[in-house]
Amino acid sequence: MQARGPLMIEHRLIERMISVIKRALTQITSTEEVDPVFIDTVVDFIRIYADRTHHGKEEDILFRELNKRDLSAEDERMMNELIEEHVFARRTTKALVEANIRYRNGEAAALTDIADKLRTLVEFYPGHIDKEDKIFFPASRAYLTNEEDQAMLSKFWEFDRKMIHEKYKLLVHGPEGK
Ligand SMILES: [Fe+2]
Ligand SMILES: [Fe+2]
Repeated sequence: MQARGPLMIEHRLIERMISVIKRALTQITSTEEVDPVFIDTVVDFIRIYADRTHHGKEEDILFRELNKRDLSAEDERMMNELIEEHVFARRTTKALVEANIRYRNGEAAALTDIADKLRTLVEFYPGHIDKEDKIFFPASRAYLTNEEDQAMLSKFWEFDRKMIHEKYKLLVHGPEGK
């Protein structure tokens, strides 16, 4: 498998979550309510899987490695754009969390914000994923030898291996008040 393999497999699961969110949006519009626990689940998926685990591998391993290479102006521009888009996704998720808190506290108007942020995520991810799968990943492969690509794949597996521990450490730290 090439190093981009796991990243593309992760894209497929993110797309499935986007479909789940799309269906939920239809439901929210027709019922004018949402289950805040469902929003917690979406946030957990986006934060831990899409952002920490997936964007984490892209930024901390792939992009960092490419930063050492002499990228073409176009590839460099695209990489910076992708990084900015990760920031945008993080900001949107934070706003979704805040809207969900307000909704839980009985502020019915927060439902509009929740739906708005979910819609933003639904509109954002497919374009971002497409850019990586079809343009950036193939382009970045050209800067790496086969050996370097395989070394990167090993780093990806190692990164993933730590994730489950990081997630549950975080879960215990919350109640501990650390
Ligand atoms: Fe990305
Ligand atoms: Fe990605």
